[in-house]
Amino acid sequence: MDARPIGIFDSGLGGLTTVREVRRLLPGEELVYFGDTGRVPYGSRSRDTIIKYARQDVAFLRQFDLKAVIIACGTVSTTALDILCQENSLPVLGVVAPAAQTAARRTRSGRIGLIGTQATIRSGAYERHIAQVRPDAQVFAQACPLFVPLVENGRTRPGDVVIETVAAEYLAPLKQAQVDTLVLGCTHYPLLEAVIRSSMGPQVELVSAGAEGARAAAELLRRSDALAPQDAPGGLKCYVSDQVADFSRLASLFLGWDVAGQVEHVDIDRY
Ligand code: DGL
Repeated sequence: MDARPIGIFDSGLGGLTTVREVRRLLPGEELVYFGDTGRVPYGSRSRDTIIKYARQDVAFLRQFDLKAVIIACGTVSTTALDILCQENSLPVLGVVAPAAQTAARRTRSGRIGLIGTQATIRSGAYERHIAQVRPDAQVFAQACPLFVPLVENGRTRPGDVVIETVAAEYLAPLKQAQVDTLVLGCTHYPLLEAVIRSSMGPQVELVSAGAEGARAAAELLRRSDALAPQDAPGGLKCYVSDQVADFSRLASLFLGWDVAGQVEHVDIDRY
């Protein structure tokens, strides 16, 4: 048993897809979330910059006495997971391997679509993990650089002509490739689930990196007997590097409960 909090971070709102799933699976856990809203997006930046930001994010979170850190960000998971694991003495868990393994197991045709940030697609990490489980699978990858800024601006709803136009253009090659499974390789994308689902059609199974990462982390904590006591109330405290109000509004909408009093600003450049 381990009552210490779990640290979770992302470049912005996207990691809340992991928070939501961890809360659902392990409601007794204390969660500390950092969203680097002042520097989002990460996915269009260089490898060196992503590693520098990720190190600062972990350094901030490690001020708390954590039992584990979840990188709720596809971009950081594909680019900096190994480095962060080497540099930290506590478990640092990513979202890529769990999502890739689930997609590889679920596909029937072996035709898997992958959407992610430019850095994630460039890394080839999903393809490597998928090939380990399903060597005959074909992965059709598409970078979607405009998705993250649109999500951060709340443009997530079906009927919003901007997001629908952008989604139609990004997803067209994957529809043409007739994928039967689509990996949402960036943790922001489940906030666009309704838009993506209506564009791809009901026959395509969506696999969320954020949710799969949460499931794998919950499993690991359970196996290592590191869960919070069963009667623990659980909780969530959020920190962001830009305006608290904008994040609070969108986070409350997405999580389905009011986080307004639980969000604080942090100067991430100090770390
Ligand atoms: N949500 C992140 C990811 O999963 C980062 C997106 C970004 O900042 O570009 O890739």
